[in-house]
Formats: sequence, structure tokens, C-alpha cells
Amino acid sequence: MELPFAESFRIKMVEEIYRSTREEREKWIEEKNYNLFNLESQKVFIDLLTDSGTGAMSDKQWAEIMTGDESYAGSQSFQKLKATINKITGYEYVLPTHQGRAAENVLFSALVKEGNVIPGNSHFDTTKGHIEMRKAHAIDCTIDEAFDSELIHPFKGNIDLQKLEEQYKKHGKENIPFTLITITCNSSGGQPVSVDNIRKVKALSDQYGIPIFFDSARFAENAYFIKEREEEFKNHSIKEIAKIVFDLGDGMTMSSKKDGLVNIGGFIALNNEELYKICGNFGIIYEGYLSYGGLAGRDLAALSQGLHEATEYDYLKSRISQIEYLGNKLIEYGIPIQKPIGGHAIFIDATKFLPHVKREEFPAQTLGIELYKEAGVRGVEIGTILADRDPETRENRYPKLELLRLAIPRRTYMQSHMDYIAVALKNIFDRREEIKTGYEITWEADILRHFTVELKKK
Ligand code: F0G
Repeated sequence: MELPFAESFRIKMVEEIYRSTREEREKWIEEKNYNLFNLESQKVFIDLLTDSGTGAMSDKQWAEIMTGDESYAGSQSFQKLKATINKITGYEYVLPTHQGRAAENVLFSALVKEGNVIPGNSHFDTTKGHIEMRKAHAIDCTIDEAFDSELIHPFKGNIDLQKLEEQYKKHGKENIPFTLITITCNSSGGQPVSVDNIRKVKALSDQYGIPIFFDSARFAENAYFIKEREEEFKNHSIKEIAKIVFDLGDGMTMSSKKDGLVNIGGFIALNNEELYKICGNFGIIYEGYLSYGGLAGRDLAALSQGLHEATEYDYLKSRISQIEYLGNKLIEYGIPIQKPIGGHAIFIDATKFLPHVKREEFPAQTLGIELYKEAGVRGVEIGTILADRDPETRENRYPKLELLRLAIPRRTYMQSHMDYIAVALKNIFDRREEIKTGYEITWEADILRHFTVELKKK
């Protein structure tokens, strides 16, 4: 018999988690105004709020923590990190930041001006926030297939070249400082972008003189999907694929809290010295000196090791297989999820799951609250609350998909946790006809309202 796949790591340290009762959870979530972000972590049994900074580091990463060089300038840990990033991305200039959105802040401070247009594939919410707070516009040019959750397409993160060219023609390079490709595309379901698509985006962008940057938070997972799904690359290593992708762009922002396999960190990597110098000035003001950018030396060292581990095939296979395992269980139970199953999370189509809850009563948030009450599992709404109001009209924006995201932390939970989550969802699905009403907002912030929004039952 062929041996089945098994994780190529074992567990050396464990953390206890508290399994609460339904009565406790019903009380806690009401006290927190039905905002899952407000819950203290000890009140959550399985935390799928995010895969960002929530994973487990390896013994080698912890060893790096002990030997980190804490020099203010020119730390050896920075040199080590820079060499790793140079090797993986091919970009020469590296600027650390304390996390991904800080990298966006620094890069966009240099490049984005009022009235600009930044086309891309479903920009992440902080990215959009950083664009819109500069009174610029993030234009979504994702292929239409991405918005049909049932449709199977190997690269639902791809950019529609026609939509992109329309933007190029309409606004020109004077108003488009760059196109941003998010790999994998978080907002449309952890869906990958193919090399073929990136090559075409590059050819078109070259024609119009527009640079390409990558939002690379999950670049290694994107490379895994390229290896699995794009014939040309089936014999390439993950590191080779990552390099091929980055070669097609001018630079990247990174949230190291995802595919850096660390709990905090980010960086910018660029191939242009002049831009690096401009970004460096913003980096020094906002983040810290050029060689630490808001991080400790030990964080830089652990990140360097994490980047090596995250770009190993076996690690990626175990990670993505775990998500597929959960997704396939849900499909078996008839639960409507975004297909194909994405890289870092399962996205449940909440309008299909809870057909009686009106769009203006937030079906995805309603499902998230039900799941917490049922089993102590915390997911996150990727729907109308997250989509925020239009900055000009202040009207609610209704995104094409209303999703509950279950993001799986890296190297953290086991198969039995996946079984538990699947049964919890099945129980809710079996009584979905009884769930007829959702929630209304009683308080919200002007921007990025989902973090602090307060709700009450309709
Ligand atoms: N880009 C993408 C694609 C992201 O998913 C995130 C964060 C960021 C940028 C910002 O990075 O958090 O380090 O400042 N995503 C997290 C999530 C928060 O839950 O998906 P950050």
C-alpha cells in the first residue's frame, strides 16, 4: 500500500484551551455586543478568527529567538533576514516593518497620492483602508468567476485583463502609481493567482508603463497552488516558483504573520534603490531604523528561519491538506462553501447557509455568532460589516459575497479539531430554517468598523 501523507513535524509543547458551556457563551457574546473581536481569548475554544500571527513557531525559530542580535543598527539578525528575502524574492532592498499594514503605510506614503487609482484583485481591508485614507481608489479587477462560490476554477484570484486595461485607459500611468496583486487573494477566499495570469498582467502593465507590486502575505501558499495546478510548474520547487512570481513585479509588501510563520512582523522588498530610499525615510518616521522597523532583532531572526520553513513543500502540503480535510467534511454535510477550497481558510457562503436572514441584518455575522454559541468556535465575518460604508455616500456597501471565514492557524490545531468544527456547523445547518433574523448596528467607527462595531439582535 502507498503510505499516506503525514505531517513532517511533531509537537514539543502544548497549550491548554478551555471548553466552555453554551450558557457561558450566550452570556459572554451578549455582554460583548455580538462582536467576536471583543471576546477574550480564554472564552474561545477553537480560534479561527485569523491565521495571522496565531501559528506555532518551530524549535529552530525559538532557537533564533535566543540568539537574536539586538543592535540598533546593522544587526546580524537583519543581515540574515535580508539575505533570506533576497534569495526567496530576488528583490535587493529590504525594509522591515512591524506588520503588513505598516508595510502598506510606508510604501503607499511614497507612492499613493489623492485621486490615484490602484487596480488589483480584491484588495485586503487594511490595504483598501490605506488607499482610501489617502483619498485614492482601490479598484477590484478580479475575474467574475471568483464571485460564484459554486464555480470551480483553479485560479479564482486572477485578474481580469479587460477590466484592468479599462482602468489603464481611463486613468493612465499619471494616476495609477502601480497595480497590486494579492497572492493568495484573501478577500475572495484564499484563492491563488496563476503565473500565466501574472505574466499577462505584466505584459499589459509594461505596455502602459505601470509597475506591479505584490501583497505577498500568503505567497508560499500561492506557490503551492501553482505547483499543484499549473502544469508548467509541477516539477519546480516552491522556492523556484516564488522567485518566478516575484521576478514579474517591482516589489512587495509582506505581512510576516502569515507565510513568515511568526507572530509579528512585516517588510517591504523592492528592486529600486531610489524608491527604497524614499520608503526608508517614511520607515524611519513610522516604524524605526532601517534595520529593525519596529521589530526586535530576535523577531527578524525568527522570521528569516520561518520564511525558509514556509517555502518547504511538505509543510505547505500538511497545511493545505488540513484545510481541504475540513472543507470536504463541510461539503459532505451539504454546507455551502466557497469552492475550490482556498489556501488558509474555509469561507462559508452565509446568504446560502441562512437564506431567511436579510442582507441588511448581516447573515455572515449572524452565522459567526451562532457558531460561537454552538461550539465556542470563533470565525470572522467577511461581508457587509467588513465592506464598510462608501467613503463618499456613507451608504452600506454590499459585497458580492457574504462570507463567514474560518481561518486555520498554521501548525496549531489537529484533525480532531477539524471534525469538531464540522459537526458544530452541521448542527446549525440542520436547524437553519429556525434562524430568521439577524442583527442591527448600534455603534460603528468611521473606518474599519468591523473591529469595534456594536450590535444588537433584531
Ligand atoms: N494583506 C493581506 C492579504 C492580509 O490578509 C493582511 C492581513 C494584510 C495585508 C495586513 O497584514 O495584519 O500584518 O497588518 N490579514 C489578516 C487576516 C489580519 O486576518 O486575514 P497585517
